[in-house]
Amino acid sequence: MLMEKLVIKGGNKLKGEVTIGGAKNAVVAILPATLLSKSVVTLENVPDIRDVRIMMDIMRELGANIKLIDKTTYEIDTTRVKAKTVPNETAKKLRASYYLIGAMLGAFGEANVSLPGGCDFGVRPINLHISGFESLGAKVDIKNGMIKATTKNRQFVGASIYMDEVSVGATINVMLAAVKAKGLTIIENAAREPHIVDLANFLNRMGARVRGAGTDVIKINGVDFLHGCSYSVVPDQIEAGTYMACVAAAGGKVTLKNVIPKHLESISAKLEACGVLIEENEDGDELTVSREKPLKPCNVKTMPHPGFPTDMQPQIVAVLAKASGTSIVTENVWDSRFRYVEQLLRMGASITVEHGDMAVIQGVKELNGAQVNATDLRAGAAMIIAGLSAKGTTEIEDIYHIERGYENVVEKLQGIGANIKKVYIPEDDDGITVA
Ligand code: EPU
Repeated sequence: MLMEKLVIKGGNKLKGEVTIGGAKNAVVAILPATLLSKSVVTLENVPDIRDVRIMMDIMRELGANIKLIDKTTYEIDTTRVKAKTVPNETAKKLRASYYLIGAMLGAFGEANVSLPGGCDFGVRPINLHISGFESLGAKVDIKNGMIKATTKNRQFVGASIYMDEVSVGATINVMLAAVKAKGLTIIENAAREPHIVDLANFLNRMGARVRGAGTDVIKINGVDFLHGCSYSVVPDQIEAGTYMACVAAAGGKVTLKNVIPKHLESISAKLEACGVLIEENEDGDELTVSREKPLKPCNVKTMPHPGFPTDMQPQIVAVLAKASGTSIVTENVWDSRFRYVEQLLRMGASITVEHGDMAVIQGVKELNGAQVNATDLRAGAAMIIAGLSAKGTTEIEDIYHIERGYENVVEKLQGIGANIKKVYIPEDDDGITVA
């Protein structure tokens, strides 16, 4: 068995251009949504990441025919999908496998899906998904780790649903279930993330009638029939934000292509407060990010969109680890998303976590390369950021977490001047065998 690691020699300033891919959290909802049309969908700007490959494998197991047309374009044919069960081995590899419940309920009136996996940052309940399905008229049972949901007469009836918490997953799942329901569904206190809007745009392209996505009230008029379409996935807000954080930490000047600056406003505002310069091009699809002077500290609180995204929290902490002063970062979305801090301490960061939800970061002059783990996807991104700005060599293990959500991360970083490579090491050996 070979173990994969990332090896980063820190200290290089970054320069050049990097192209941002399609959004992970949009594609993992759009792929299940194709089941609703029982026809052929052409999807462009699909990122080549592990979570997408897993979701495609699950879809193929269900009977979908998925063909790669070119590098980032796929044709998805769901005309022959009949299976309504997603078994444990596949579902547990991916948090977003629960979108198959909403999609299969909407498409077939029935779904059997194992409880999902995904990054571990404390309790990740799905009560809002279940109560949303029930409000639409489904019967939901959880037995032996499987969620079994059925609708009466194979059809949902529109309903008014108030979400007690702002939940991306529950908002998406109810949207998927409701597009073919009878009558009007209203989701109040809906999540407003760019991937919610992207899913709504995709559903509407297939003939759905979804209004209000991007606000906290989404209205869905059910339709009987959805058809195939072509659609290009929105650029990934978090991938873009992560490269912005790389430049902030390492210094230099990089242009990010294929971005939506509006989606990046909360991230840009905080990086600018730290002394990073950010310029938008005339066409509004590129940002040039540069940092020459030492980083200044700043305080950050994560919030649902349009607030500062929790999925950028580890990355901003890695940036602030070298700011000249004290920063406070408060996590308001997840109970337990500071586990990776321990890894930054190994690199010489000075961070204390208080009450589990607040990191007090005393900026240090230097971080030192060390052997660290990617404890989850965004934590792994934070290790890369810290490694790029550290003195010496950083080795990151458990990089499969990073590959779940970042396409060609090594090539993209090498393209902007980072000294990073992936190495393969026999598990029972210390020697690096392949570069
Ligand atoms: N919540 C409930 N009940 C529910 C669902 C959620 O109480 O039924 C709570 C959660 O405990 C949490 C809050 O609501 O405190 C927000 O959770 P949400 O449902 O929005 O999260 P999610 O849908 O499971 C998605 C992203 C995450 C991202 C969160 C928040 C996908 C596949 N995942 O998760 O992305 O952190 O929204 O923005 O879209 C990542 O990409 O690294 C990642 C973890």
